[in-house]
Amino acid sequence: MRRGSGKSPQRRLALPIAAVALLALAGCAGDAPSTLNPAGYGARRVEGLWWLLFWISVAVFVEVMALLAWALLRRRGPRTRVRHGDPTRFVAVAGAGLPLVLLVTVYGFGLRDLAALGDQPDQPAVTVEVTGHKWWWEVRYAGSAGATANELHVPVGEPVRVRLRTADVLHSFWVPQLMPKTDLIAGRVNETWLRAEKPGRYRGQCAEYCGLQHAHMALQVVAEPRGDFDAWLARLSSDAPAPRTEAERRGLTVFERSACAACHTVRGTSANGTAGPELTTVGSRWSLGAGTLPNDRGHLGGWIVDAQNSKPGNAMPPQPVPAADLPDLIDFLQSLK
Ligand code: CUA
Repeated sequence: MRRGSGKSPQRRLALPIAAVALLALAGCAGDAPSTLNPAGYGARRVEGLWWLLFWISVAVFVEVMALLAWALLRRRGPRTRVRHGDPTRFVAVAGAGLPLVLLVTVYGFGLRDLAALGDQPDQPAVTVEVTGHKWWWEVRYAGSAGATANELHVPVGEPVRVRLRTADVLHSFWVPQLMPKTDLIAGRVNETWLRAEKPGRYRGQCAEYCGLQHAHMALQVVAEPRGDFDAWLARLSSDAPAPRTEAERRGLTVFERSACAACHTVRGTSANGTAGPELTTVGSRWSLGAGTLPNDRGHLGGWIVDAQNSKPGNAMPPQPVPAADLPDLIDFLQSLK
């Protein structure tokens, strides 16, 4: 007799299995940042390989389960006679021949896609220089003076070359809906390219373990019409707008006189530090701390006072900004758009 809750093992497993299935299905949802929801040429190639491997796995699974069921049924009953024929041929065909054919086929498709992905367009419309840091992405554009962080804007439908460097350890640049992963390796420049087929915001992520905050090393690709992109790039290339309110003016003074200016650049002011991300357009960015926090007033204040609280180990120490000065500093930073 069984003790305990009285639930069968199958019933106890039902909930976790359903949860996992739901999570897996959520990955296929309309706006999921998944390779299975591609919006670019490179991602489409990866998606094709993914489905090829998936259906081969399904076929192998069904075949193995069928053989297992067949063996179990045949062994039922004490009087079943088992003929011991020569098993060598079966093992050679099903255990070696078939896997060899499958693996060589998949390898062939992989080589085909690798070659296709290596075909970089001769004339990219835009070249972006991306540098990986622990743990954020520095983003510059060829021919532009400014820099931003954790955010790439690209013109929709046009090929964009991405040149990748690292300032410290190994990172990997990955925007699942647009292109496959490319590593950032010390001492060399790796090139990849992407082309967004439709306007939108595409989530990217560092895909190589790079230390404590590897998971908080996200980025966003904003694909927009040519006109919007040109306007954005022109803004990135120019100095910060002059403060318009009294609070913003006081905030600029606080920024220039505090430790902020030693690590961050705001073009058009005396702040020209290079240890942290440039902040000339920080007010327009999608997040704080490379996807760690939403970029709003409350989180910005919390980040300034103690960035270690939400992203332990990052390079920004807690800032002893007087409470009376903090709202002005936030006003100033949010005006940088
Ligand atoms: Cu950078 Cu993981």
